[in-house]
Amino acid sequence: MTKYGVLIGSLRENSFTAGVAHSLVKGLPADAEVTYLEIANLPFYNQDFDADSPASYKAFRELVAAQDAFIIATPEYNRSIPAVLKNALDIASRPWGESVWDGKPVLPASQSTSGMGGMLANHTLRQTLEFLNMKIMTQPELYIGNTPNLSDDQGNITNEDTNKFLAGVVKQFDAFVKNH
Ligand code: FNR
Repeated sequence: MTKYGVLIGSLRENSFTAGVAHSLVKGLPADAEVTYLEIANLPFYNQDFDADSPASYKAFRELVAAQDAFIIATPEYNRSIPAVLKNALDIASRPWGESVWDGKPVLPASQSTSGMGGMLANHTLRQTLEFLNMKIMTQPELYIGNTPNLSDDQGNITNEDTNKFLAGVVKQFDAFVKNH
C-alpha cells in the first residue's frame, strides 16, 4: 500500500485545480491511501521559527514525512505558483537538513483557464521540487488547458478524454513510485 499526499495550490471553492487533483486520485489503485494535505491555514514561513516552530508547522511536517509520494496540482498565478503552495513547500523543507520532501516521488500537474495549461507554473514548481531533491516524474507532462471547457460548475473534470488521460498518467506514476 502506498501513501499518497495530495497538495492543491488553489483555495478557491469549485477550483479547476482541485478537479484535476480529484481526477488523478480516482485513477490510483484501490489500495492507495490518499491524504489531502491542508495548506490554507499555515502561517507564512519565518526562519525565526526554526528553533521553536508553531504546532501547525510541526503537524504539517509530520504529515508530509508520513507520505510515500505526492501529487501536486497547481494553477498558474502571474506566470508562477500561488504563494500558499510555495509557503507549504518552504515550511516542510526546513529546518535546514531536515527537509521531509527529500527523495520522495512527485507528480507535478498544472491547469489553466487559458490554453497554455499553466506551463510556467508547472516548471516553476519543478524548479523547487528539483532543488528539494524530489524524484519528479518528468514524463508525461501534465498541462491541462482550457479547463472551464472540460469541467462542470464545481470544477470537476467531466471531459472523458481528459479523465482517461489523467487516469493513464497516474497509473504510470504509481508504477514510477513502486520502482523507487
Ligand atoms: C490567474 N490566471 C492565470 N492563468 C494563466 O494561464 N496564467 C497566469 O499567469 C494567470 N495568472 C493569474 C493570477 C491570478 C492572481 C489569478 C486569480 C488567476 C487564471 C487562472 O488560470 C484561473 O483563475 C484558474 O481557474 C485558477 O485555478 P483554480 O482556482 O480554478 O484552481
